Amino acid sequence: MSNIPDLASLHAMGAAQQPTYPDATAVDSAVATLRNLPPLVFAGECDDLTAKLAAVTRGEAFLLQGGDCAETLAGVTADNVRNKLRVLLQMAVVLTYAASVPVVKVGRLAGQYAKPRSNDTETRMLPGGKSVTLPAYRGDAVNGYDFTPESRVPDPQRLVDVYNASAATLNLVRAFVTGGYADLRQVHTWNTDFVRESGAGKKYEQLAGEIDRALTFMTAIGADPVEFHRVDFHSSHEALVLEYEHAMTRIDSRSNQPYDVSGHFVWIGERTRQLDGAHVELLSHIRNPIGVKLGPTTTADQALALAAKLNPTNEPGRLTFITRFGAGKIRDGLPHLVEKVTAEGIQVAWVCDPMHGNTFEASSGYKTRSFDDVLEEVQGFFDVHRSLGTWPGGLHVELTGDDVTECVGGGEALRDEDLAHRYESVCDPRLNRVQSLEMAFLVAEMLRKA
Ligand code: PEP
Ligand code: CO
Repeated sequence: MSNIPDLASLHAMGAAQQPTYPDATAVDSAVATLRNLPPLVFAGECDDLTAKLAAVTRGEAFLLQGGDCAETLAGVTADNVRNKLRVLLQMAVVLTYAASVPVVKVGRLAGQYAKPRSNDTETRMLPGGKSVTLPAYRGDAVNGYDFTPESRVPDPQRLVDVYNASAATLNLVRAFVTGGYADLRQVHTWNTDFVRESGAGKKYEQLAGEIDRALTFMTAIGADPVEFHRVDFHSSHEALVLEYEHAMTRIDSRSNQPYDVSGHFVWIGERTRQLDGAHVELLSHIRNPIGVKLGPTTTADQALALAAKLNPTNEPGRLTFITRFGAGKIRDGLPHLVEKVTAEGIQVAWVCDPMHGNTFEASSGYKTRSFDDVLEEVQGFFDVHRSLGTWPGGLHVELTGDDVTECVGGGEALRDEDLAHRYESVCDPRLNRVQSLEMAFLVAEMLRKA
């Protein structure tokens, strides 16, 4: 790993959003353990994803990336993983039909355990009126969610736990997507059940019927391609904790190139995308396909500089820009960025994260998002790209396959008062199963108007 900076050099760059570990020896020991563990993904699979994202960059495919804001160790159960996968597969079928191009399926899973935070500390008012301030929860990769001093101390052993949890998740996902669970007819049947059985689904009967006829036709002519029975599914997460990502960066024996084998795709968050920062530096050395989140304050010069540093050979598929402007800002803010980047001939896939610019605190105190704002940002994203003649390459969504109550609105018309009913996210609010499926059908309608 000659040209990859060592961990100490990365930290010396003033790495943002890192845990403050109390015990350096324990960190060294966890990192040494991780360095010896096998890769979670194979470098050749990362290259396959790069090729698929190159098709997205060319306007020949659409990306669907989704999953929890923050995975938890306790959430690694068969039901939880299966439900998330199922809703993503259901969304992908609807989007594939509407977009008439392949949908590249990427989970925010098997590694999405570390969170950047706006504040280093969290203050809560305890019963009796005493206010207590503790280190912020930074994801299960770093510390515990329980609001106690012991739980909030960063523990490097958690990085090893996260590796094991990610291995278990990925193992189950691989079994599901190749072992028959992802059968296209089966996935379509789940969609028709949704349309038939849920009040929110009724509106989408026509589209579901069209897909049904297309599948029946394929069967009638005797077509039975392998793609009907298995799908490609990739893992992704924010590359945040340097110890974890550095320890999982290995030289691929085929190509002699470094890959971060903690996931197929890793991205740099809005808070860690400093051009001279440690995260941009580390990811500039790996060969995985990578993403960068771009918020509303991003200047065109920053985007160009990031592209120059992260993708100096301008290889399509290597770099994805995930914009997260907010529903109120995307129509004014995005055109300039896209225009400049396009004018410079930069090869990049443009993907919309309609979640992170639309978070607010409900009067009940819960962090939430409105389904309408989320859809409005997606519509703005499509409109901007359409007017510029560029390809709206995909969606990056926080969602779950369970019937949680974290985002307001949608066909079930979830209200502020409903949030307490089943609010389970330890970080940002996710679309629930029904809201996610509705989003797929609504985005399908936007795609068909393209
Ligand atoms: C996230 O994806 O959960 C996140 C923190 O996003 P951003 O970096 O865009 O704020
Ligand atoms: Co989030």
